[in-house]
Amino acid sequence: MAIDVEEAASTVSSNSTRTIHVTVNGVRHRSTVDARMLLVSYLRERLRLTGTHIGCDTAHCGACTVLVDGVPAKSCNLLAVMVDGRNVLTVEGLETGGKLHPVQEGFTKEHGLQCGYCTPGMMLASIGLLSKNPNPTEDEIRRGLSGNLCRCTGYVNIVKAVQYAAKKMQETPKGGA
Ligand code: FES
Ligand code: FES
Repeated sequence: MAIDVEEAASTVSSNSTRTIHVTVNGVRHRSTVDARMLLVSYLRERLRLTGTHIGCDTAHCGACTVLVDGVPAKSCNLLAVMVDGRNVLTVEGLETGGKLHPVQEGFTKEHGLQCGYCTPGMMLASIGLLSKNPNPTEDEIRRGLSGNLCRCTGYVNIVKAVQYAAKKMQETPKGGA
């Protein structure tokens, strides 16, 4: 993603606030935030979108993955001010008109989750992967999701879930939704 973390961090000072305009799941928000507020905190605490999880807070687990302008990003590793003017998609925005996104359907049908803690981030990362590579091999899926950790499933059914979604999205090119 074309966000320069160091440059953005250097432009904010502690104890300062900034007003940002960000579109989250299609809804435009104008918010005044502490310049050092993490994006994951903004989503969870300010917008109450608690489907984005915090697993490690150190950019390792991927539980906090969202899409920023269509690209997967770990929201514990971004400041809210860094998404000023951008589009963010969280797990709450996947269902449209009461219809699950093909990736959500895949995780359900192929039993791609157990405790579900990693699942929102895993699904957003999968959507990012499929947008770049609509028909990935098993190896490409495993590599594509290597930034997202799951403590429960052993990944086999997660791979099947992504394969299910890839097939469904090819059958219905607009994403099956
Ligand atoms: S909480 Fe962000 S990568 Fe783990
Ligand atoms: S389903 Fe439990 S961590 Fe992935």
